[in-house]
Amino acid sequence: MKIIGFSSGGIGHEGNTDRMVKAIMAGSGHEYEFVKLSELNYSGCKGCVQLCAKRQVCLFEDDLLPYYQKIKEADAVVVGSPVYFRNINADCYSFLERFFGYRHVKSAINNKPFALVICGHDKIEAGVDYLQWFLQRFGVKILDTVRYISKSPPCLSCGRHRECRIGGLYQTRGEGALSLLIEPGLFQRWEDDPITMEAVEAAAGKLRDLGDNG
Ligand SMILES: Cc1cc2nc3c(=O)[nH]c(=O)nc-3n(C[C@H](O)[C@H](O)[C@H](O)COP(=O)(O)O)c2cc1C
Repeated sequence: MKIIGFSSGGIGHEGNTDRMVKAIMAGSGHEYEFVKLSELNYSGCKGCVQLCAKRQVCLFEDDLLPYYQKIKEADAVVVGSPVYFRNINADCYSFLERFFGYRHVKSAINNKPFALVICGHDKIEAGVDYLQWFLQRFGVKILDTVRYISKSPPCLSCGRHRECRIGGLYQTRGEGALSLLIEPGLFQRWEDDPITMEAVEAAAGKLRDLGDNG
């Protein structure tokens, strides 16, 4: 059993999305590869459909090229995205857009098991719905979707929260945001939330069962 997992979590740190994707794969007990999308250079689908149609895999040459074949060969796939502007972020979307390569005549990833991760500070449901809707177009089997709301907007680390009345921190805390003392405890981690811990373990268990049944 081989699992491949992708996270489009923020660059330069190992954020909640990255750690959730990794924990689900590690908890499965199977061999896995983790790919941090935001550290790669790539674009969305360029519409070169005659390239992918015959082999049913995206063949556009950039950093993502090897991974589309690996997804075809993997026994299961994990995809995690933070929510940006109420949806999956653009790195995740560009990565997924090139799944078009799988979708000619029939889906080349039909029935492949997927586990999904969505992480945000406040409003994430539109991102969940979109990610599920998108992958359903390919006939994949969505085993589980793990959600985490951190209540930790990016404003906590931007350095300008004392002068900002448009950011997520102000939207959730109002005037209190302007005098907020930024302390480590404000940066919430999914590992400290028992409900999310349980959800991650449940998703890992579903991946583990795939091996037991196969
Ligand atoms: C450009 C941008 C837009 C964001 N928009 C939303 C949003 O609409 N809803 C939300 O819940 N969180 C939003 N966030 C917060 C991120 O989802 C949060 O910082 C993310 O979950 C952090 O994940 P990471 O630690 O894995 O990078 C936004 C963050 C950024 C940088």
